[in-house]
Order: sequence, then structure tokens, then C-alpha cells
Amino acid sequence: MKKQPQDDFIEILTDKYQLLSLDESDLIRELDLGCGVGSFTAALAQRYPERKIFAADVMIGRLRKLVKRNKRMDVNNMTILRVEARNLISYMFPDNSLDRIHFLCPDPWPKDRHRGHRVLVSDFTSQIHRVLKEDGVFHFASDDEDYYAMGNNALRMSGLFIEEVQHISDIADIKSDFEVRWLAEGKKVHHTAWRKIPRPAKSIGH
Ligand SMILES: C[S@@+](CC[C@H](N)C(=O)[O-])C[C@H]1O[C@@H](n2cnc3c(N)ncnc32)[C@H](O)[C@@H]1O
Repeated sequence: MKKQPQDDFIEILTDKYQLLSLDESDLIRELDLGCGVGSFTAALAQRYPERKIFAADVMIGRLRKLVKRNKRMDVNNMTILRVEARNLISYMFPDNSLDRIHFLCPDPWPKDRHRGHRVLVSDFTSQIHRVLKEDGVFHFASDDEDYYAMGNNALRMSGLFIEEVQHISDIADIKSDFEVRWLAEGKKVHHTAWRKIPRPAKSIGH
């Protein structure tokens, strides 16, 4: 793969299984998981310049477009990561490190034989819970009715989250690239938000 000038602004984490070293001075951190070309992420970063925004995707070409977009929009509070979503959440973010995760219009893998490729499945929910801060929020959107129902069911059944949509009202006007595309085609895109239920403190005990 030929190096492009934008690559200096992308951290390639593929195949690295180590904790990210985060800047302690970040007060609020948000992650766009599977950000694509990143209109949503860039608008989020521009709205909240005091926050650290992470944008992650496997496709380098999409991330390069995001680098160019950030330059055009003068966005300077974003870290761009090339990485597989499950590896990032399961191995690289420390416990209690993120305020919000946005998981927008993920690839739906509609065929039965491809369901295993879906990122949001029941055994992933505990890792999402682990990396969110105490009142952290998981923002999930999909145009695919089946994936939307399945994902929400996995979050509900985990017992680790409570559905509270008010935690995404501040960004209801920001649309992702795929959302814009689906809306133009007359499809509906559903959004919801799940707040982490903190685990009870361990009692010292008898
Ligand atoms: C349908 S696009 C949605 C992009 C963006 N969230 C939006 O709403 O416009 C799905 C994105 O997820 C990325 N993706 C798919 N599977 C992934 C995985 N396992 N890890 C990281 N990114 C992934 C794809 O490369 C693609 O950019």
C-alpha cells in the first residue's frame, strides 16, 4: 500500500493489542466506531472543540478522506485510528475511558450466513460496558430493522444498560454520511441511546 500524505494523521493500530495511552487531560472523550468518511465525527468534533474525539474504521481510504475533511473544517481535536472495531474495544481502550460511543449505520450483513460479521452481538456488550465511564452512553443507529432490533435486544438482555434517548438530543441534527444516503432513498434511520448501569461497588465482606 503506497503511503499518502494523510497517513501521518492516522494511527495504524491493526494487529496491535495494547492499551492506548490516553491523555489524562481529556475531560470528555467520544468515539465514532466505524466512522466511514466521517461527516458525523467531524461535525461532532467541531461542535465540541474542548472534547477529544476518536474516529475508528478499518478502511484506510475512508480515513484519508476524513483527514482531508478535518483540514478543511479546521478540526484539531480528533484522533483517527485504523483498527478493527472489536479489537479496539476489547483490547485497546482502558476501563472507564469513554463518555460516548457512536455506532452509526454499521454494515448490516443481512444474509443469514454472514450474520457472524455483525459487530454488535451479545458478547460484545460487556466490552462496551467496560470501556464506558460510569454514566457513559452507547449511541446506536441503523436503517436495518433486523440489526436494529437484534442490537437493542443484546443491549437490553445484557442487563448492563438502560435505554435513555435524551443523552443524544444534543446531536440529533448531525447526520452521518450513510444516514443522509438512506434518508434520500426514503428509508428510516432509527437512533437510540443506552446509558451504562455502573456495576455495584464490591462489598468488603464476611
Ligand atoms: C455502512 S458504513 C457507515 C459509516 C458511518 N458510520 C456512517 O454512518 O456514515 C460502515 C463502516 O464501518 C466500517 N467497518 C465495518 N466493519 C468494521 C469493523 N469490524 N471494524 C471497524 N470498522 C468497520 C466500514 O469500513 C464502514 O466505513
